[in-house]
Amino acid sequence: MGRKKIGLIGGGQIGGNLALLAMQKNLGDVVLYDIPAAEGLVKGKALDMNQLAAVDGYDCRITGSTDPKDLAGSDVIIITAGVPRKPGMSREDLLDINLKIMKDVAANVKQHAPRAFVINIANPLDAMVYAFHKITGFSKNMVCGMAGVLDTARFKFFVAEAVGCSIRDVEALVLGGHGDDMVPLLRQASVGGVPLTKLLPKDKLDAIVDRTRKGGGELVALYKTGSAYFAPAAAAIAMAESYLLDRKRVLPVAAMLEGEYGINGYFFGVPATIGAGGVEKVHVIDLDENEQQMLNKSFESVKKTVSEVKL
Ligand code: 2OP
Repeated sequence: MGRKKIGLIGGGQIGGNLALLAMQKNLGDVVLYDIPAAEGLVKGKALDMNQLAAVDGYDCRITGSTDPKDLAGSDVIIITAGVPRKPGMSREDLLDINLKIMKDVAANVKQHAPRAFVINIANPLDAMVYAFHKITGFSKNMVCGMAGVLDTARFKFFVAEAVGCSIRDVEALVLGGHGDDMVPLLRQASVGGVPLTKLLPKDKLDAIVDRTRKGGGELVALYKTGSAYFAPAAAAIAMAESYLLDRKRVLPVAAMLEGEYGINGYFFGVPATIGAGGVEKVHVIDLDENEQQMLNKSFESVKKTVSEVKL
């Protein structure tokens, strides 16, 4: 049995970090793929990381490539190809340009890596994963989007900072689309089993929700030339790892819904089990009226963006 193979489509900041994490976690050999204009970038990153492997003794190898045939046989494909936000832009502003790129990407994945578990990171997230799924016709359990793990990580970090506790003890979940009306759930959040609502006053809780929702934009404003990359890469690798090692982690992911949460035919952020079967099960949790209203609002935004996806 050979090593697993991970195809990374997009050799930018997230792509480079995905490759490094995959190597450090010994998940498999990596192909870091990008368009010919980025040949030096992907070949350079691959060479640099293969030399790093000699320092720390990693067995996995990274190949930089501009030939989609090199993606053949990938067990996992992670898509970051596309343009990141600039300050002042919403994720939705990227739809037209990133959809063009996604059309090529999806055609290549369909042709060369039809058995892969596919994780999309390109924005606007929920619409791009929808487009990928429509173009490829892949089974719904093999396609998902990375957003909830990242949004939840932001939420957990802000909670840990405000409470002054270990981030390990924060249990929390963000549902919904990867936009500014995502739904960080306060009622269900806890720290070591203690409800978060008992630990922080309302104004602090509201500020955490607000900062979580705008968490991506906060980083865009700081970086100025692009969006976040360390945490997004770590989040997608957690999903890939759960698939490759059949860990059956329950993670918030953009999964295709068929009636769950009253939504049909859209990718939307919900908790799901990720194992060897891909997205094995979507979990439905009880929401109160206020939470349901917020979720509906988030879904309306996703639906609107998806309605602009012309294939
Ligand atoms: C973010 O929220 C990249 O969409 C991603 O930072």
